[in-house]
Amino acid sequence: MSSHGTPIPMTARKSGPLKGTAAVPGDKSISHRALIFGAMAVGETKITGLLEGEDVLDTAKAMQALGADVIREGAGEWTVHGVGVGGFTEPADVIDCGNSGTGVRLIMGAVATHDFCTTFTGDGSLRKRPMGRVTDPLALFGAQSVGRSEGRLPLTLIGAAEPVPVEYETPVPSAQVKSAVLLAGLNAPGQTVVIEKEMTRDHTERMLVGFGAELTTETTPDGYHKITLTGRPELTPQEVAVPRDPSSAAFPVCAALIVEGSEVFVPGVSQNTTRNGLYTTLVEMGADISFENPRTEGGEPVADLRVKYSQLKGIEVPSERAASMIDEFPVLSVVAAFAEGTTVMRGVKELRVKESDRIDAMARGLEACGVEIEEDHDTLIVHGRGSKGVKGGATCATHIDHRIAMSFLVMGLASDTPVTVDDGSPIATSFPVFEKLMAGLGAAITRNN
Ligand code: S3P
Repeated sequence: MSSHGTPIPMTARKSGPLKGTAAVPGDKSISHRALIFGAMAVGETKITGLLEGEDVLDTAKAMQALGADVIREGAGEWTVHGVGVGGFTEPADVIDCGNSGTGVRLIMGAVATHDFCTTFTGDGSLRKRPMGRVTDPLALFGAQSVGRSEGRLPLTLIGAAEPVPVEYETPVPSAQVKSAVLLAGLNAPGQTVVIEKEMTRDHTERMLVGFGAELTTETTPDGYHKITLTGRPELTPQEVAVPRDPSSAAFPVCAALIVEGSEVFVPGVSQNTTRNGLYTTLVEMGADISFENPRTEGGEPVADLRVKYSQLKGIEVPSERAASMIDEFPVLSVVAAFAEGTTVMRGVKELRVKESDRIDAMARGLEACGVEIEEDHDTLIVHGRGSKGVKGGATCATHIDHRIAMSFLVMGLASDTPVTVDDGSPIATSFPVFEKLMAGLGAAITRNN
């Protein structure tokens, strides 16, 4: 269980040029999936480069509670002895997914077509997040659920005894919803189909094929993305080499762009088009980033990034790009504050149901630091300060949200006066080595107690 009981206030101060290599840890999305698919395969899956953040460790514990054997062999090296599709057993206690929406929603999918009962909970952030987006499609398989108002956690899911396959068009662009349906479809007979209007991250599809499932993808005549999975496959254990996390790489990359004189090398950043929207956007803003040594790592296209301090200009981010950079808008809004001109982010209402309401959290912190913003339910507009600089000097509330904490700390590295966050403890959910890695580049970030 993740605990955010003791807040850790942290402060970032104007720093000299950031220099060096930022080798960020493993991808969070792929790490969760490696554990879950490993647990549903027959035999031993070996994982290297697993992200050992709290979110992923909570998923490892959940797989153990469902009957798989999950063993840490060394740093980032894990083995999972899977129980096979349909082989999970009823957990003896509540499954606590800590801060992780991905963990809870994917695991709900995995147990929804098992004939037993699972109760889920999480931390103060996760207990506020909507689960109806997952329990609605899982009900079509025959699963029942009882949660708090609006389906919030704690929630009990009674898996379908005789699941039926489902065809489902996702009402929101969400890889978590898509993945929950596909995971439930694994233990339903026949074909489960998911249709998405906007394509979201495709790690589930790629990895299921890698584990030997029969899964096809196609574009419909309407331009939608259609995935068809044949249920009840025997998944074959794999050796999974988890690539580095492009969402974590975003922090040193954006810090280097706004701290004068910086030059940072960031190896192995995903170029998967369902994940790399931030990097496309930064280049459009005028960022000096070279993409070197393109190759495939852990089944994902990656490149090494060389990033230099740049004078950036504001742009309008196309709303159809939102899904491919959904976790990167907080740090983009920080970069936008240092750019010359206005950056418009539309079609971003999903940010309101992340670990916090990220539009509100960023808007309030940016304003407190002297940056003019505009917002509505689905939009965030940042009026860049450009050569006038960002004042800083505020304490920003992080609302148990790792990406809000890291974004404001990046902002403090280039602001005129220090920026404090009220609680940096959630950073450990996704990027436990953030402070060490940033210090290695020369960033002045300290804990205040
Ligand atoms: C994730 C999907 C995204 C993202 C989250 C990880 C995943 O959430 O924000 O950090 O691994 O599937 P949504 O699917 O809700 O957009």
